[in-house]
Amino acid sequence: MFIKRQKSWAIRENLVTDEQHYLNRRRFLGGSSLLIGSAALGLAGCDNGLESKGGGRSGRDPISQTTGTSDFKDPTMDLYPAKLNDGYQVERAITSEDYTGRFNNFYEFGSHKQIAGAAQRIETRPWTVTIDGMVEQEQVIDIDKLIRSMTLEERIYRHRCVEAWAMTVPWTGFAMADLVRLAKPLSGAKYIRMETFKNTDWASGQKQSWYPWPYVEGVTIEEATNELAFLVTGVYGKPAAKQFGAPLRLALPWKYGFKSIKSIVRFTFTDERPVSFWEQLAAEEYGFWANVNPEVPHPRWSQATEQLLGTKETVPTRLFNGYGEQVAHLYKDLGAKEILYR
Ligand code: MTE
Repeated sequence: MFIKRQKSWAIRENLVTDEQHYLNRRRFLGGSSLLIGSAALGLAGCDNGLESKGGGRSGRDPISQTTGTSDFKDPTMDLYPAKLNDGYQVERAITSEDYTGRFNNFYEFGSHKQIAGAAQRIETRPWTVTIDGMVEQEQVIDIDKLIRSMTLEERIYRHRCVEAWAMTVPWTGFAMADLVRLAKPLSGAKYIRMETFKNTDWASGQKQSWYPWPYVEGVTIEEATNELAFLVTGVYGKPAAKQFGAPLRLALPWKYGFKSIKSIVRFTFTDERPVSFWEQLAAEEYGFWANVNPEVPHPRWSQATEQLLGTKETVPTRLFNGYGEQVAHLYKDLGAKEILYR
């Protein structure tokens, strides 16, 4: 996003997933055989070296690398698949896990998209989540306790990266509002600052000292308690594979994808607006609000259209990524250009 200058999302035509291989919801819930079948066909690909890096046509153990199903037995496996919440579906086809599981942004593991293999080094258990700052009582919660204290559901969301690609993903998780309730913020708290793990044994990218590790993101309390803000524990009807940001990530479908922080270890309630990882690096490119807006180009990417990952389709971008009905009121007092994008 920052260092890389070429359009890293651009997909070579001959590597694009054929329409007949999309996994729609019924097919992926119907069984993993379809997933294995499409993986074996080596359908996924992109312009910067997928085949040599992580499965697909390389024939290297693509399923365990991309789904994290190797030796690790997730202790919350019995909670999946969670019930679909019908209120959150989209008109687009679900993007195949074969694609989304091999085309990831996770700079802790490199500034390219083929980090799925490297991300398997994250040790997702034991894992604790710290809730601190302006709260009634600070808490350190074991991830399994946290997950089991919440009601998991599945939601199908559009996801829009600032690099002008988009995907449609069936996330499993719980409303971020429920975490805020659990945290019991003090009345003066206005924002939540979130942090990813910092561990250079797992993540070689974190040895690159020019990046301000750990990855940080922030939202207002109003955004966090909006019905759409979703803390993700699973994807495609099972616990999230590590490259998606296991064991806990955020999904904010009306904002550019960089706001959806992965592998979260800390939520800090504060009255100061957090400065995010990308904002520290290039504030003029990656603002705090980062709401999807076709009218405001990023310095390197027009935001007028988006490419649907795994297809040949380019479609117009929608304001708030099509979620205006749920979120536009949050920004009604803010000016157009600066605030919608910045
Ligand atoms: N979280 C962390 N910790 N590190 C990252 O590099 N990249 C962000 C976001 N969350 C990132 C992150 C960006 S730019 C995007 S588009 C999404 O994760 C990508 O999510 P995906 O790999 O599941 O598509």
